[in-house]
Amino acid sequence: MARRTIISGNWKLNLSVAEGVDLANALKDSAAASEAEVVVFPTALSVACVADACTDSAVAVGVQNIYWEDAGAFTGEASAPLAKAAGCSWVLIGHSERRQYFGETDETVNKRLQATLNAGLKPMVCIGETLAEREAGNLEEVLSTQIKGAIGDLSADQLKELVIAYEPVWAIGTGVVATDEQAQDAHAFVRSVVAEVLGAEAADAMRILYGGSVKPDNAAGLLGKPDIDGALVGGASLKQDSFNGIIDAAAAASV
Ligand code: 13P
Repeated sequence: MARRTIISGNWKLNLSVAEGVDLANALKDSAAASEAEVVVFPTALSVACVADACTDSAVAVGVQNIYWEDAGAFTGEASAPLAKAAGCSWVLIGHSERRQYFGETDETVNKRLQATLNAGLKPMVCIGETLAEREAGNLEEVLSTQIKGAIGDLSADQLKELVIAYEPVWAIGTGVVATDEQAQDAHAFVRSVVAEVLGAEAADAMRILYGGSVKPDNAAGLLGKPDIDGALVGGASLKQDSFNGIIDAAAAASV
């Protein structure tokens, strides 16, 4: 099955409102010209203004995290319905930085995933192993546990819009990108776990993105692999030249 490529940028804790709006505006032309879906994840502070700037463009906008309750006495949190009202169509869930620094677990990933789906937003769930886990031979066990924990008892029908981002922790922000083969092997394994849980049809349709030191010069090789359906980009998504370069690489990889 043909799966539409997604090129997404996780801005993490970077860029002011004005900088984010400027960057989003600078991505519109290449996003419009590209076959790929282009998504950016600004900070919670700038998401509404970036979404406003992206109205009627080919750039979609998402939040980097949501809480699973819709509203109430939860100081400091943002919810899926409020993200939707602010113009978001995507939610990033379970990034390794949230697992590492903010106590995210497979159980809370599942709660956020359910809240995202309930609000009618599209979830992008991040998984990935640390270097120690890979070196100890635990890659498959870690990925399998993270996927099954995230999906919980949700059905293939409920998870039609789910996108999984495989981000090996050792490749994030390090400049050490997984080789095309390492990434392909992990993606094929992720797809096999999705098939085990949700069935072959759902697995075949699911888009699995690679993240971790993706740059314009390594993107085409990764995106050319059969089970790699896009990229989740950190550092190189913060500059228009490098992110546009990756959007262009998606076109090169698909010819
Ligand atoms: P880098 O592209 O900076 O390695 O970050 C990847 C990432 O964490 C995207 O979510």
